[in-house]
Amino acid sequence: MNASITAVGSLTVDEVREVLIAATAAPSLHNTQPWRFRCTPNAIELHADPDRALKAADPDHRELVLACGAALLNLRLAIRSFGAVPDVRQFPEHERPTLLAAVRACARRPATPAERELAAAIPKRRTNRKPFREDLVPTVLQEHLRQAAEAERGWLAVLDRSQRSVLSALSRKAHQAQLDDPEFVAEWQHWTGRSDHERDGVPARTSGPTPEPQDEFVVRDFSGGNSRTRVAGKDFEPEPLICVLGSFQDSRHAQLQAGMAMQRVLLTATANGLASSFLSQVVEVPDTRRELRELLGCGLWPQIVLRIGYGSPVPATPRRPLEDVVTAEHRG
Ligand SMILES: Cc1cc2nc3c(=O)[nH]c(=O)nc-3n(C[C@H](O)[C@H](O)[C@H](O)COP(=O)(O)O)c2cc1C
Repeated sequence: MNASITAVGSLTVDEVREVLIAATAAPSLHNTQPWRFRCTPNAIELHADPDRALKAADPDHRELVLACGAALLNLRLAIRSFGAVPDVRQFPEHERPTLLAAVRACARRPATPAERELAAAIPKRRTNRKPFREDLVPTVLQEHLRQAAEAERGWLAVLDRSQRSVLSALSRKAHQAQLDDPEFVAEWQHWTGRSDHERDGVPARTSGPTPEPQDEFVVRDFSGGNSRTRVAGKDFEPEPLICVLGSFQDSRHAQLQAGMAMQRVLLTATANGLASSFLSQVVEVPDTRRELRELLGCGLWPQIVLRIGYGSPVPATPRRPLEDVVTAEHRG
């Protein structure tokens, strides 16, 4: 029994526990799970955990905030699935900068079927680094994904073939810049290629196939050098659906909001039988992120690049137990 988990507003202790499990199912760069939660009688607080920031890959903590935004969307949806209405205050206290949001659960109103569908997708969503089937994602589903981003004030740009080839070149350039940085490589080796028993970092068994030169996009090898080689020369799906989730600002607020938009896109994909993975190199290296911004036009800030399609099942990645992430302290 974790004494830090208490009833909050109209939610019982058991409901709060379920809500927190849903929040921690969010994706995070290298599965660092850079969040902490605190229960007060009236609200669940979501804190960024800067001790889990990736200094080389994410020095500005932008992706850390994206991951916390994804956790916040999960939290909101889980609260709705219990028939309560979340009232979210973002960055509520200036003097506590790691406090990203305080979420109250007050009024009661039954969840809509759409909300239930998204909440049900939370434990099913996984990062799928394997090649997808050749089937194209129908335009009607692409439109659902766009609407999911817009529902959270984000923008999802689906790249055409010529934009994809520019992105592919930028992604190679960014990947090489990262491999040339010994701090990035050391951090990478620390967080990836993990055994199945570890509760954070990326397990080797969730890696995709060994990257090969003819692959359109450089896929990161999470296997710690032990990925299985597939048939040499066999490519990933020939017409991948590559989307860039963008925001209209690049402030902390905008990044938290973009994390919610990213997660709504991923859950909408999952609910519609689609698999997804991330191609983050290009948005981690400042020069290539700037070039991608020019490619998108419209002043959009690219926050994350996603690959979406029809995949085969992949294993889940573990999470830390709630005891490790729910705190009783009042930390700033
Ligand atoms: C901001 C962000 C960036 C990520 N970048 C990558 C990436 O470049 N390549 C990749 O394979 N996975 C990437 N991931 C996925 C994480 O590795 C994954 O979420 C984590 O290992 C947990 O696994 P799960 O998503 O299956 O729950 C990223 C996730 C987030 C939130």
